[in-house]
Amino acid sequence: MAKGKILAVVAALALVSPAMAGGDAEAGKSKSASCAACHGTDGNSAAATFPKIAGQHADYIAKQLADYKSGARQNALMVGQVAALSEQDMADLGAYFATEKGTIGKANDETLAAGEAIYRGGIPETGAAACMACHGINGAGMPGAGFPQLRGQFADYTKAQLMAFRDGSRNNDGASVMRSMAKRMTDDEITAVAEYIEGLN
Ligand code: HEC
Ligand code: HEC
Repeated sequence: MAKGKILAVVAALALVSPAMAGGDAEAGKSKSASCAACHGTDGNSAAATFPKIAGQHADYIAKQLADYKSGARQNALMVGQVAALSEQDMADLGAYFATEKGTIGKANDETLAAGEAIYRGGIPETGAAACMACHGINGAGMPGAGFPQLRGQFADYTKAQLMAFRDGSRNNDGASVMRSMAKRMTDDEITAVAEYIEGLN
């Protein structure tokens, strides 16, 4: 993707990013008991099967919960969790987990250089954009623009999401922004950038 086009996509996404209802972190905490079994009490899941959601942006969390509920994002485990949630519950849960601090993992030395090169510079041969253009230099993302925090996330989860974007089974990214990125990546490139992100901070 040409640099000008990426900037245009960034600007367009920032404009369409929905304004979410204001969430109340205290109320969210009291609604979060059922999440703890999988995501940990503070959103730092113990197992890579469950993504970390601590420190993730409130509006991104609320959007994902709404997407699981509407079916725009599909997952057998999450669909049952969101069925009874109102829009306010989603905003409150987002506000709560956003206030927690996400833990950072460790990168894999063997894929570090390749992963860092993709994260910071993209893949010029295929036109995959630099991840940091949207997800930030340290993986903190950009709240408000709808670009989620990535740093510290389990590599297995990040890898699974990139593969799901690539085969289209995850398609809740506005303007196909992530699907068009993942299509330009090989399995090895996905693995390298996912392992880099686990240690990024
Ligand atoms: C039975 C286990 C389980 C429970 C309980 C559960 N989750 Fe999840 N959650 C998952 C799994 C597995 C995924 C990854 C699904 C996927 O690949 O789309 C996930 C994904 C998510 C995501 C998307 C993360 C991202 O980075 O995009 C959010 C947000 C989330 N869960 C919030 C919650 C909240 C809030 C609750 C409580 C109301 C909850 N979950 C309860 C298993 C669970
Ligand atoms: C033009 C902006 C942009 C660029 C560049 C970009 N992303 Fe994204 N990314 C997004 C948006 C927007 C989402 C959220 C989609 C949604 O709402 O579900 C996202 C979501 C993700 C997710 C899912 C996070 C989660 O918690 O489930 C991963 C993983 C990801 N991006 C990795 C990458 C990687 C790796 C690169 C570089 C190869 C990259 N992104 C480049 C905009 C971008």
